[in-house]
Amino acid sequence: MLENMTGLKRTHYCGEVDETLLGREVVIMGWVQHRRDHGGLVFIDLRDRSGLLQSVFNPQEDEETHQKSHDVRSEYVLALRGTVRRRPADMVNPNLKTGQVEVFIRELRVLNVAQTPPFVVEDHGEANENVRLKYRYIDLRRPSVLKKFILRHRVAGLTRNYFADRGFLEIETPVLTKSTPEGARDYLVPSRVNQGLFYALPQSPQLFKQILMVAGVDRYCQIVKCFRDEDLRADRQPEFTQVDLEMSFVEQDDVLDLLEGYISLVFKEILGLDLPRPFPRLTYDEALRRFGSDRPDLRYGLEIVELSEVLSQSEAKVFTEALARGGCIRGLKAPGAASFSRKQLDDLVAYAITLGAKGLAWIKITGDGWQGPLAKFLTEEEKAALARALEAGPGDVIFFGADTAPIVSSVLGQIRSRAAQELGLVREGEFRLTWVTDFPMFEYDAEGKRWAAVHHPFTAPRDEDLKYLADEPGRVRAKAYDLVLNGNEIGGGSLRIHRPDVQALVFRALGLEAAEAREKFGFLLDALAYGAPPHGGCAFGLDRLVMLLAGASSLREVIAFPKTQKATCPLTEAPGPVDPRQMAELGLRPELKKS
Ligand code: AMO
Ligand code: AMP
Repeated sequence: MLENMTGLKRTHYCGEVDETLLGREVVIMGWVQHRRDHGGLVFIDLRDRSGLLQSVFNPQEDEETHQKSHDVRSEYVLALRGTVRRRPADMVNPNLKTGQVEVFIRELRVLNVAQTPPFVVEDHGEANENVRLKYRYIDLRRPSVLKKFILRHRVAGLTRNYFADRGFLEIETPVLTKSTPEGARDYLVPSRVNQGLFYALPQSPQLFKQILMVAGVDRYCQIVKCFRDEDLRADRQPEFTQVDLEMSFVEQDDVLDLLEGYISLVFKEILGLDLPRPFPRLTYDEALRRFGSDRPDLRYGLEIVELSEVLSQSEAKVFTEALARGGCIRGLKAPGAASFSRKQLDDLVAYAITLGAKGLAWIKITGDGWQGPLAKFLTEEEKAALARALEAGPGDVIFFGADTAPIVSSVLGQIRSRAAQELGLVREGEFRLTWVTDFPMFEYDAEGKRWAAVHHPFTAPRDEDLKYLADEPGRVRAKAYDLVLNGNEIGGGSLRIHRPDVQALVFRALGLEAAEAREKFGFLLDALAYGAPPHGGCAFGLDRLVMLLAGASSLREVIAFPKTQKATCPLTEAPGPVDPRQMAELGLRPELKKS
């Protein structure tokens, strides 16, 4: 019953057939979206990557083909040959690109049959995500799903051209390699030839791109897969793609300027938007102080305001005790939030406590005065000073944090995002970028009780802070920058250390003894000793950038075959068990726990 294509050549994609082809014979190939039997006439909507086209089978014109069309079912693969005609006026479908025309079919070949699909291939059809991923080949037939991959393809093309036009060389780096610390766990690959030894999949090509600079490549750019074994979230995948680049003989502004050109081009070409340049820049300290986050969402204001001074004499113990312990008091005005219900406010307080706050004092300013748990402790002078500092008035709510600066900042930062959501201040389709610069070089990892690199250990400290490297690592700021889009970190980079002595100092600050540093990164230290130029670069998260451009809410929507939250692939069922013989060959014993 199945037929082959021999002698039939596709002339058009379904979505291309329009009035310019009236009277012409076309051959189309694709999948059956719908078949409708109207007694006499049979209609089949055929779908391919480009869209839908209505075909008509008329028993008066071609009895045999009409008869054949009765056996066709959804998702069968057909080749159709027929003549393009104008639809009768009452059959025109203005919602379809090809809605003015239809094709009268003279020849139908069934190239393949299909089982009833687990969900309908329609943009608005609902299906559980696991089922969609298991049958991803059916899911991808939906135009709205495929559309995001077409967008991704276009961004990748723009990326290659932008950097190639500016002298960047695309050079591939290995996937079987040694661990590069980017802060996550490594995926390891056992070596058969060298039993007991392991490759690590790269968390990024960081060290290779630096070595390419030592090699005199000068400008490198690669669209590259990276692997990180970390807890998954909507904006994290274990396997993801970076637009990775590196340049020699540059300073920070050279890099940022070139990257702004790249991002502006992408926004212009993909969304038709002109981004104002230069992009805003916030230092890390300022971002935390004003927005409570190192990746602030600038689509709305809601700035955090320092209130320690205003409330220094407060009667409220919550405030004075925090100050007495060396902490601070900061506030956030939520404009118009006086309409929040008591439950909404209680939920915000509970949320603040889950974030590590001791509480979240609030004040509602109404026409009848100031209300809230601490209102009675505020003097008229304090109220006036608060209203001034926060530009607050009737209808607003003020939230207060009183604790150590890092806790207040992080809690109010998250209350800020949530309040913005609840107040409807987050406008879809709006894009606000900012650089965040001057990150600290190290942060104290309380669990391991040691200093860890905030960016990565190859980032250059600021020259004026080099003197603190040995004794006060917490004071050292880095020549590091992140690009933040609507509260998402879409890229990060830095100027690098190009002197082996400075690199050794940084390793030491991180608690890496010289011997250990040599064992792990000897190849880098060697390379730095053979004439490394000053260099720096950046990596963008391509998946994240595409996700935001496509208005998607998860990376899974812009990765063709993504992993689930449990790091599995429903399509292939990876990860899977391996044959004991295969393990033996690798020198591994099959004593693994099965979860
Ligand atoms: P970083 O670790 O900041 O820097 O990564 C760069 C960008 O990659 C994206 N990203 C991710 N996207 C999806 N899933 C993940 N698990 C994930 N992890 C990171 C983010 C991030 O901004 N070698 C350095 C760059 C450099 O210094 O040049 C690096 O990898 O958008
Ligand atoms: P308490 O004195 O603990 O009953 O708290 C009085 C009010 O202050 C409550 O609304 C708490 O949510 C709030 N609160 C308590 N501790 C803090 C804090 N550290 N920062 C901000 N608000 C707090």
